[in-house]
Amino acid sequence: MNARSNEFDLPAAADRVRTLLAREGAVLVAHYYVDAALQELAEQTGGCVGDSLEMARFGRDHPARTLAVAGVRFMGETAKILSPDKRILMPDLEATCSLDLGCPAADFAAWCDAHPDRTVVVYANTSAAVKARADWVVTSSIALDLIAALHARGEKILWAPDRHLGAYVQRQTGADMLLWQGACVVHDEFKGVELELMRAEHPQARVLAHPESPEPVLAQADVVGSTTQLIDAARRLDTDTLIVATDQGILHKMRAQAPGKTFLAAPTAGDSATCKSCAHCPWMAMNALSSLADALEHGRNEILLDPALGLRAKRPIDRMLDFAERRKRRVQASGDLARDGALYARVGPA
Ligand code: 13P
Ligand code: SF4
Repeated sequence: MNARSNEFDLPAAADRVRTLLAREGAVLVAHYYVDAALQELAEQTGGCVGDSLEMARFGRDHPARTLAVAGVRFMGETAKILSPDKRILMPDLEATCSLDLGCPAADFAAWCDAHPDRTVVVYANTSAAVKARADWVVTSSIALDLIAALHARGEKILWAPDRHLGAYVQRQTGADMLLWQGACVVHDEFKGVELELMRAEHPQARVLAHPESPEPVLAQADVVGSTTQLIDAARRLDTDTLIVATDQGILHKMRAQAPGKTFLAAPTAGDSATCKSCAHCPWMAMNALSSLADALEHGRNEILLDPALGLRAKRPIDRMLDFAERRKRRVQASGDLARDGALYARVGPA
């Protein structure tokens, strides 16, 4: 077994998935938090490993009629929303997310109804029904830029569900935002005080943090960003030691991209705890090669969505993807990777 896998014969399980992906004409789309064996298999078989924005884009654009999504349920649902004619299979449909669980659609709709003057922006880590009620969907890689653009044109925001990401964006942009009080069970555990102690022990280290982390952690971070942005920073930063405040599944890719550097998992608990760095999403951990093989072999664990709901949820996701595309083009054209207010001037009305 490797460090995180619960499978005893990894090569055999990987071969079985490889054969079934070919038989089914399927492509594997995986998140950085799933088991390393799944990430590697995705790359070896022409699939993708990415953050949630990249997974959404890749699944939409790939010609395969079946997408095998290794991640959590909202990622499979997003794939289905964007490609309703494709078959979306997942290793385990019970793999959810505390942010999705903490934002029931009916409660969320009542909250929106109480604030009709606000633009509704929801994080991708939500159900299709919540997305269907939103003006915009965002992922961690685009949240800051999109809210800055909405703020620049005078819009007030209703934000759900992650309170830490919402508060971070609010601090950075000065936007008028009302925040739903959801949190990620993994990132919510990172402790600012313990991080200070770790930094004192490793004064040369730089800190990489996912914006779902609490403010005392983000305040100490050298880079705050999506999983892909953190991996890029790990490679780019001129330092030997990096403290990483996100799910430890990401370390597999960071080590591959920045060999020779030392990665320290940011502390999740104090001295009395038995585990000081145990950041791993219990739902991402449900993704296994053997269950993926079963799903492919028997057509199990298919994401099914009411088409009308899917259509309503697609609109705010399409808007996000268009915004991301326009931003990419402008950044490429200007050759300037620094944030530039003018970059977003052409964003259309929600
Ligand atoms: P990314 O979009 O940054 O990959 O984040 C997804 C997620 O669920 C983080 O906990
Ligand atoms: Fe959800 Fe947190 Fe797991 Fe990401 S790490 S899927 S936000 S519970």
